[in-house]
Amino acid sequence: MKEDYVVAILGATGAVGSRLMSELAYSEIPVKILKLLASKRSAGKKIKYQDQVIEVEEARPESFEGVDLVLSSAGGDVSKRLLPEAVKRGAVCVDNTSAFRMDPTVPLIVPGVNDEELVHHKGIIANPNCSTIQMVAALNPIYQKYGLKQIIVSTYQAVSGAGQSAWNEMLDEAKEYLENKPMKAEILPTKGDLHHYPLAFNLLPQIDVFEDDGYTHEEWKMIHETKKILLNDMNAPDLKVTATCVRVPVAVGHGESVYFTVNDSKATVDEIRSLMAQTKGLVIEDDPKEQIYPQPLNAEGKRETFIGRIRADIENPRAFQMWVVADNLMRGAASNTVEIAASLVKRNLI
Ligand SMILES: NC(=O)c1ccc[n+]([C@@H]2O[C@H](COP(=O)([O-])OP(=O)(O)OC[C@H]3O[C@@H](n4cnc5c(N)ncnc54)[C@H](OP(=O)(O)O)[C@@H]3O)[C@@H](O)[C@H]2O)c1
Repeated sequence: MKEDYVVAILGATGAVGSRLMSELAYSEIPVKILKLLASKRSAGKKIKYQDQVIEVEEARPESFEGVDLVLSSAGGDVSKRLLPEAVKRGAVCVDNTSAFRMDPTVPLIVPGVNDEELVHHKGIIANPNCSTIQMVAALNPIYQKYGLKQIIVSTYQAVSGAGQSAWNEMLDEAKEYLENKPMKAEILPTKGDLHHYPLAFNLLPQIDVFEDDGYTHEEWKMIHETKKILLNDMNAPDLKVTATCVRVPVAVGHGESVYFTVNDSKATVDEIRSLMAQTKGLVIEDDPKEQIYPQPLNAEGKRETFIGRIRADIENPRAFQMWVVADNLMRGAASNTVEIAASLVKRNLI
């Protein structure tokens, strides 16, 4: 195992990038040099990391010369353009974007669920979509013990999932609404689409662009990423998954209502609750009598996935329902990425 690593954070000035820095500092990864990379706009900006002040550089292919590990979160197009350059120069990249997730040669990893796939990496490892990570983390112990037949998920996704600029837009809209002014929307539901709508005091049942079949690309990602992570096949026919993804005016923390059907008829709510309670990274907050259940405000800044409202379907003895909440920027992005990197270091795979 190497004793220290040259690490680059690509997209260091973004909503996920700033958390990648704090998660890297929290991790046990020995960092010799940290490079902070972003667009030309941020070049020269100074950012504090532990006791150093680091100048942000414009990301270029040659920025990766001598770099061992890249933590990448600057959007899919940037990853597609720059990560192959980083790999060519000998770096191993953990990518937060959707650029390589469906590439069959790229492992798609949720630590604690499928770390064993890391050994197959060829220089790039993909971090799943934020909404997929928290759902799969919660369902994996159930899948391992009882098998899963079907998952039906509805998401309530925070605005920070669309990046810092969308978050700022929602805060401006909230001020405009409270001052009785028209709300200006130029980014959400998704950059570059035909129409934009305000999110403040509203709900948008569109995350990412629409596919021809009427699903959004975010829904498509939840379906196929879940199959790839749990069954190693993005089109696995044995597990049926469907999703409805909704953007809600919450700053940080995605909520998900997850309905699932198990194969084993002996599963009970108590067993499921106790299985999840014994799983590292899952926290049960489930006491209806005391009105205890997970909430985004309480999950903000945390690395864990919070689960509550676990109950059996009254009409189907093999079906259950639960409410899952996690910080999308931490569990859904930065913590997952840095845990993948730490696992690579521990397994001597860099
Ligand atoms: N937010 C989430 O919950 C979440 C979760 C999982 C995955 N992701 C994914 O992570 C990526 C980043 O998300 P985010 O929320 O952090 O977005 P963000 O706040 O908009 O930040 C984007 C980052 O990318 C950099 N960047 C943009 N264009 C670039 C270029 N041409 N070359 C180099 N760097 C460039 C930006 O630098 P400048 O500051 O210089 O523009 C900034 O550092 C996206 O692909 C997103 O889908 C986000």
